[in-house]
Amino acid sequence: MIKFLFIILIAGFLLQQILHMNNEKVERIEVKEFGLLDDGRTVKVYTLKNKLGSSIEILDLGGILKSINVADRNGKFSDIALGFNNPQQYLTDSPYMGALIGRYANRIAKGRFTLDGMEYSLAINNSENTLHGGITGFDKQIWKSSPSTVNNEAQLKLSLISQDGDEGYPGKVSAIVTYRFNDQNKLTITYLATTDKATVINLTNHAYFNLNGHTAGSILDHEVMINASHYTPVNSTLIPTGEIATVRGTPMDFQTSKPIGRDINIDDPQLNFGLGFDHNWVLNKSTEGIISLAATAYSPKSGKFINVYTDQPGIQFYTGNFLDGSIKGKDKTFYQHRDAFCLETQHFPDSPNQTNFPTTELRPGEQYKTTTIYEFGIKN
Ligand code: BGC
Repeated sequence: MIKFLFIILIAGFLLQQILHMNNEKVERIEVKEFGLLDDGRTVKVYTLKNKLGSSIEILDLGGILKSINVADRNGKFSDIALGFNNPQQYLTDSPYMGALIGRYANRIAKGRFTLDGMEYSLAINNSENTLHGGITGFDKQIWKSSPSTVNNEAQLKLSLISQDGDEGYPGKVSAIVTYRFNDQNKLTITYLATTDKATVINLTNHAYFNLNGHTAGSILDHEVMINASHYTPVNSTLIPTGEIATVRGTPMDFQTSKPIGRDINIDDPQLNFGLGFDHNWVLNKSTEGIISLAATAYSPKSGKFINVYTDQPGIQFYTGNFLDGSIKGKDKTFYQHRDAFCLETQHFPDSPNQTNFPTTELRPGEQYKTTTIYEFGIKN
């Protein structure tokens, strides 16, 4: 009898633990149907939550960061990520808002490169160049998604197989991207990839931020610091010239935090090419490949800031110059010129054609692995 009672007690305890684990799951990460694409496929939305009351929505379509809800200095929550209410718009209207970008973030000149003596031609989708993986890049695929709660952190693992020849790129690539959101408001993104043939790879996230809220208009009052003494100047089609130039004495100098609007309208050939900032900065690193502070952005109005940490050698700072009020986003907002900024951690643009840039080649047996952390906070 005593033995029987003992077994019941243990079974009850175990059941409680299991229920607790499940509760934990419900608390930290939830899934819902976001909607249907025009071709009938369902898009899911995951909500990652933390103890501060912050929440981040991520789609299985393109691994898109659909919203980032964090508090301002008065404790008021607002969504600091631009995006759409309708999944189909992410395929038809979106300039990559919040999306995972692959196989190659940024531009490859004339959509061509040579690797191991073989010449490859890619899909051209940005004047004469290839941009952000081509016409149907990683941002437009539905990823396999697997939510969990690990050490009280919401975690969403997304995986995708890109077949040999996809958008012209060689090799069958298997990519896994994991988002983790913790109680310190840090969103960690880990990118993994392997290939069965020599190829090139450069993955990033393309979130558009506005620290006053996605409906709030211009970001020119935001203050930005980029931890870089050099950048890669571009030609008129935004392809790097190959030069690694000092930022000193140029509008590209963000070594000390300054308002985005301070120098953006200077008549400077680099700014004229990009209609504003749309360049890759060469991050200062004490040791190659370590995770270190790459950039900070702060809004004096809301008090919200973002710190970006990465192990990548570069960051594209883009100030929403090509937004022109023509696309209707969330909350019926028409996003205007410079209503958002992006801080895309990456290898340098056009690396496959630039021998003096760090390599983006990936070979069978190797693993591509990189980490970027977006930390959201408040300052007075
Ligand atoms: C590029 C811009 C481009 C934007 C949206 C950025 O990463 O640098 O030139 O317009 O993405 O596609």
